[in-house]
Order: sequence, then C-alpha cells, then structure tokens
Amino acid sequence: MDTSTRKRNAAKAALDFIEPGVNLGIGTGSTVNHFIELLPEARARIDNVVSSSRATTQLLEEQGFEVATLNQVGDPDLYIDGADEATKHGYLVKGGGGALTREKVVATASRRFVCIIDDSKLVGMLGRFPLPVEVVPMAQAFVARRLVKLRAQPVWREGFVTDNGNHILDVHNLQISNPLEMENRLNQIPGVVTVGIFAQRPADVILIGGEEGVREIRT
Ligand code: 5RP
Repeated sequence: MDTSTRKRNAAKAALDFIEPGVNLGIGTGSTVNHFIELLPEARARIDNVVSSSRATTQLLEEQGFEVATLNQVGDPDLYIDGADEATKHGYLVKGGGGALTREKVVATASRRFVCIIDDSKLVGMLGRFPLPVEVVPMAQAFVARRLVKLRAQPVWREGFVTDNGNHILDVHNLQISNPLEMENRLNQIPGVVTVGIFAQRPADVILIGGEEGVREIRT
C-alpha cells in the first residue's frame, strides 16, 4: 500500500469524529487534503469550518464550504490535522508545509485535536525531521545563531514566505528528548514566532494509516 493510500485511510477514519453541529478546525498538508476531499460526505453535520492556511481555505472553498475565521466563531469543537512526526504521547513536530503558526493557534483553541498520519510518521523520539521554526525576517540570522549554540543546524527555507509574512528555519539535528521543555525554551528566543513542536498542545487522538488498516492511539 503506498503512502498516499495510508494517509487517505487515516483521513477517512477522522470523519467518524465529526459530530452533528460541529465547529471544525482544519489543518494543512497532503493528508489533510485527502480529508478535505472526503469532507462533503459529512457536510450536513458541520456548522462552521475554520482554516489554518490560505491553501486549506482555497481547497475548502473549492468544495463549496464557506470558511469562517476564529474571530467570528470562537473555539472549534474539533481540530483535524496531519504531522511530520508524532510520538505515542501525542507530541508532534509540524510545519513541514510552513503553516505551523496558524495550525498551533487553531489546535490550541480547539477542544479536541485528532491527528492523522501514515505509519512512517510515528517515532520514539522527535527530531529526525528538521524542526520548522517560524521567525520574524529581521531576526532570522540572530535566531539561527542561538540555535547553533544548542548544537543544531538551522537552514533557512529560502524563497518561502509564510501566510504571516515570515521566514522558516528548518532546524536539523536538534535533540528533542523533552518536547515540553524544548518548545518552551525555543519560544523564549526573541524573534521566534512559532516553534513546530506541539507539546503544550499535543494531539488527543492519533489515527495512523498502515498496512493493516488504521490504528487509533488516545493520548
Ligand atoms: C503543515 C504541517 C503538516 O501537517 C505536515 O507537514 C504533514 O504534512 P503531510 O500531511 O503533507 O505529510 O504541519 O504545516
């Protein structure tokens, strides 16, 4: 079974979490794109959708959904999003698609976070995937130097500008043995907008598409 099919199966399983009258937050990425394609099946149960990126908004509108803002509708009941890495505790690395700031806002606002991944994303310890960090452009080199002091190798995602007008540093070889502590620590560096570690707001449920079907972990 190819990766795309595993992602799609996880996305399909997430439809079962949509209860009638839901205010639904939606993440960004190829796994979520499968979810959005399938979402019309659940249209009658959805009151509002809130998006985490321009790309997701565009796809939702193409499917005929009217996208509300977080400011308009308040805290979502449910947030569905993918991840670049996930542990069985629900700690995540996100931001491979560069949407980490809005994703973290909507995830944190939401009452329940269901993360959809294929089985290659489940890891024992976070950090193999380069950690995305969104930075204010004028602070990029300063933040990079601070990260080098932590023995990591930050690489500027050249040519990429986030939906918020900022830059991304992809941080290689960072030891993330304590995700809660590392998220806090990196958040303290002036100029950092968002760190791609989701530990303060972990996933509540992980749906993992694999060869044997979809496995569910409640964290
Ligand atoms: C985007 C993200 C995505 O959830 C993450 O990159 C996973 O993407 P995909 O579903 O394409 O594998 O955090 O900012």
